[in-house]
Amino acid sequence: MSFAIAFLPGDGVGPEVASAARQIMEHTARRHEISIRFDDYSFGGAAIDLCGEPFPPATKEGCVNADAVFLGAVGGPKWEGGDIRPEMGLLELRKQLGLFANLRPTRIMPGLDHLSPLRADRAAGVDLLIVRELIGGLYFGAREEGTEKASDQCVYTREEVVRVARVAFETARLRSGRVTSVDKANVLATSRLWRRVVTQLQETEYPDIILDHMLVDAMAMKLIQAPSDFDVILTENLFGDILSDEASVIAGSIGLAPSASLGESRAGLYEPIHGSAPDIAGTDRANPAGAILSGAMLFRHSLGAEEAALSIEQAVETALGNGDGTADVNGADGCRSFTDKIAALIP
Ligand code: IPM
Ligand code: MG
Repeated sequence: MSFAIAFLPGDGVGPEVASAARQIMEHTARRHEISIRFDDYSFGGAAIDLCGEPFPPATKEGCVNADAVFLGAVGGPKWEGGDIRPEMGLLELRKQLGLFANLRPTRIMPGLDHLSPLRADRAAGVDLLIVRELIGGLYFGAREEGTEKASDQCVYTREEVVRVARVAFETARLRSGRVTSVDKANVLATSRLWRRVVTQLQETEYPDIILDHMLVDAMAMKLIQAPSDFDVILTENLFGDILSDEASVIAGSIGLAPSASLGESRAGLYEPIHGSAPDIAGTDRANPAGAILSGAMLFRHSLGAEEAALSIEQAVETALGNGDGTADVNGADGCRSFTDKIAALIP
């Protein structure tokens, strides 16, 4: 059996980091005798240029039928201010595939705490996972946009909270068994619902998990003060967007951060957390590690190939440990040479 991966390079540095990840995934698949096939589709700003919409029907069909979707990055100044923006395609893709759980890990790799902007004693041992709700809340509520008045509605239902909380609890069982749920329950009604539902689910189905709640403003502070206090952090869409950018720099560079977006089925979406970085697009300076590590998550979650995933993660870690890497991690490599060095480390 062959796995079909829909390949969406996107905009800016997207094509560079996506093709780096593809090189590593193809190499790893061969080594592990896994049969994969990439099908290319246009997406984001590139698709707007090509056919006027960021998520064209052919791309939609390819993504719906694929075993996994791999995405580089979308957006750029060229499409800002327009009525049709590349980001709309990304939101539609997440919604269309029902990808309600976004996993964003941050780990300080052993021996690499010098990359962190945090003091070494604070950076040591950080290994956390943000589980972000991805297709609800302010991102998808009713929106009104006038010149004098605008509004964005935030809605969450019990079921939307339950299904993402379940992912956090299940994942925590494979880690240290702790979940910190983040909300703004001192102000928002959706947050109070969130807190009640998460608490009830833990009491009835996950009594083995240690659950804490924290307000989002306190979490923004604690992530810097004591990031190693946390394991699984569960939160809603917008808070997760903000906190995951904050968490990603703790490891040294947003260029290192991968993500997986999952729904009910095995077919997920994998993309680095960083954006399209138009200022360095086409210059071979983008860090491919976040994309490559997203490829590892693809092997783990959509192909069930844990060993292959680990071999990619180990290779990235070893390469960085050797002092290799792009400028954002104090290395002298370009995107391509760093990728080749990682490939050479995959047994
Ligand atoms: C992310 C990005 C997206 C988001 C944008 C590009 C719509 O910031 O994946 O975190 O806000 O979800
Ligand atoms: Mg974001």
